[in-house]
Amino acid sequence: MSALPQVDWARLRELRARFLDAESRATPAATADYFAFAHDVELYDMTFAQRIGWKWIAALRELEQRAPQLAPRTLLDWACGSGAAARALLASPLGARVERVNLWDRSQRAREYARRSLLELRPGLEVELCVRDGADLVLASHVLDELDEEGERALEAVLRSARACVVLESGAHASSRRLGALRARMLDEFTPLAPCPHREACGALALPTNWCHFFAKPPAEVFRDAFWAEFAREVGVDLRSLAYSFVALTRSNVEFDAAQHRILGRARLMKGRALLDACSREGVATLSLLERLDRKLFKTLDEPSNEPKLWRLELEGARITALRNAADASRDP
Ligand SMILES: C[S@@+](CC[C@H](N)C(=O)[O-])C[C@H]1O[C@@H](n2cnc3c(N)ncnc32)[C@H](O)[C@@H]1O
Repeated sequence: MSALPQVDWARLRELRARFLDAESRATPAATADYFAFAHDVELYDMTFAQRIGWKWIAALRELEQRAPQLAPRTLLDWACGSGAAARALLASPLGARVERVNLWDRSQRAREYARRSLLELRPGLEVELCVRDGADLVLASHVLDELDEEGERALEAVLRSARACVVLESGAHASSRRLGALRARMLDEFTPLAPCPHREACGALALPTNWCHFFAKPPAEVFRDAFWAEFAREVGVDLRSLAYSFVALTRSNVEFDAAQHRILGRARLMKGRALLDACSREGVATLSLLERLDRKLFKTLDEPSNEPKLWRLELEGARITALRNAADASRDP
């Protein structure tokens, strides 16, 4: 028996077609409000928003390691939809001190759903359904593709009003590059916290074919769950592929280690070696890693992971001769 009536699967297919259409547009354009009924937000929340939440888990895990000092008391989720981004933040250690959340979305149905879902997670939380400037942290998630230039200016103004912000988008080429351009503009007032290991211009933007993106790991139970199997079949989604791009920016000072490289995308495994795209202050370079340097690590290189591949590297030309996880290196004296 199906978990949802056919009419709901059809609606989910329609929503997905809208998202893919927005993602593939050559020039920025605003979308129309697609949450026509409260049930649309429910369907969105039980499917697409869950997958977005899994991407947030990966991005927040990286922030937890790289910016544990980020402990916002006030949060604004702009274009909150059903509240996936704010919920992920509240569920992460970084969200432990949040007292007030402002939720904003053009859809009133979405705003109200998001408020209920946050209060279920943390009763007693102060939740306001309006934009309030000056939040400790602003989140924006999967919205750039739905904004024309005016909408993007409004988003940027909100981001600039905050002390820190995280924008997380799909891992698609155009979305990631649009996010890179937003990062570039904001560097006049902000410094990257993640994923960039530097405050220089984005190396991925330097080559038109390149884009900064990562792959999150969905929870293991998803692959044993009848609902998700049906979702994948009915809506045509590959559950294993959870590409995302993100940037976290702060007004505070950030120290960078010149030897750190953030590995992007997916490693290309060959016999005895792997090719990796590594971002550093020098730009994005394709580096090679010999299997014998670290056999255990090598086996996992092309698997999605929520542990950020932020490595201190020693190089001979484009060959990695020594490698340490930056988190391990920073724990040692
Ligand atoms: C793909 S959904 C993402 C929702 C949520 N941030 C998430 O990650 O699940 C895009 C959201 O952006 C909202 N949106 C689109 N354009 C907007 C605008 N100009 N101002 C505010 N919200 C907007 C939509 O109503 C929708 O809720």
